[in-house]
Amino acid sequence: MQQYDEVVLEFLRCPLCRGPLVFLDKGKLQCTKCGHVYSVSSDGIIDMLPDSLVSGRDRQWMKWYDENAEQYYRLFHRIIPIFTLGLETRARRKWAKLLELRKGDRVLDVATGTGKNLPILRKMVGENGLVVGVDISISMLRYARKIAKKYQNVALIRANASHLPLKDSYFDGVFHVGGINTFEEKELAIKEMFRVARPGAKIVIVDEGLDPKLRNTKRGQKLLKQNALYSSLPPVDEIKKHGNYLCVEWGILLNKWLAFWPYYLVEARKP
Ligand SMILES: C[S@@+](CC[C@H](N)C(=O)[O-])C[C@H]1O[C@@H](n2cnc3c(N)ncnc32)[C@H](O)[C@@H]1O
Ligand SMILES: [Zn+2]
Repeated sequence: MQQYDEVVLEFLRCPLCRGPLVFLDKGKLQCTKCGHVYSVSSDGIIDMLPDSLVSGRDRQWMKWYDENAEQYYRLFHRIIPIFTLGLETRARRKWAKLLELRKGDRVLDVATGTGKNLPILRKMVGENGLVVGVDISISMLRYARKIAKKYQNVALIRANASHLPLKDSYFDGVFHVGGINTFEEKELAIKEMFRVARPGAKIVIVDEGLDPKLRNTKRGQKLLKQNALYSSLPPVDEIKKHGNYLCVEWGILLNKWLAFWPYYLVEARKP
């Protein structure tokens, strides 16, 4: 089996010039093409986010998640699992199944946040597979690290989803739950998901969005007032530009009396 460091060098690329990287001593990586130096924290999070690759809304949301990671962690890892009687985790498992992963596969979790998807994906690819979680917020990744450190084959990288520091056509599946609605460069993020997926790989994107059929109902109107992001639509046009669009599914997490998270799910495949 390959060493972890060798595996990392195999899939990591400089987000500025796509050059390959080498490890320098003391937790640093250097691009062999443009010379840019990247750091690896003592707990193994690889920082592949030069400041020039963060702009507009991405910077605002990065700051927001950096400041609110603890609350997010508490909500998603403590309160919601109890409050929804595990329904939210089961929904994530159902969405992840659509990736059609097999043991030994490599999977990318875009905007992994505090790592809620990581154990689900790790279980699917097993000990010989690879799970890579990418997020723009270092504070969110520090919580994800609590989960990732239980495994040998889960890597965490700080990066912008629209400028992935990853090799072309490498992953057998690309997963994304929550975030894309607010990305500054949404179409670029979709293009990147297709770029790093291998031909034939599935891409599954889930984010807030209320089924258009419910928008004019009393309950729909109430939900739309609660959160402006519920009016978001799935990025179908962007997907059609870069790969094979398969379908959209609309759903509401929890149940029809206690609506918690209306969402869309888009399935696509790399040609
Ligand atoms: C709603 S949370 C979802 C986290 C996780 N996927 C989950 O299901 O719990 C959104 C995440 O997107 C990240 N994010 C926002 N903009 C990003 C970008 N441009 N690139 C990468 N991550 C981003 C945030 O830091 C945050 O962790
Ligand atoms: Zn470079």
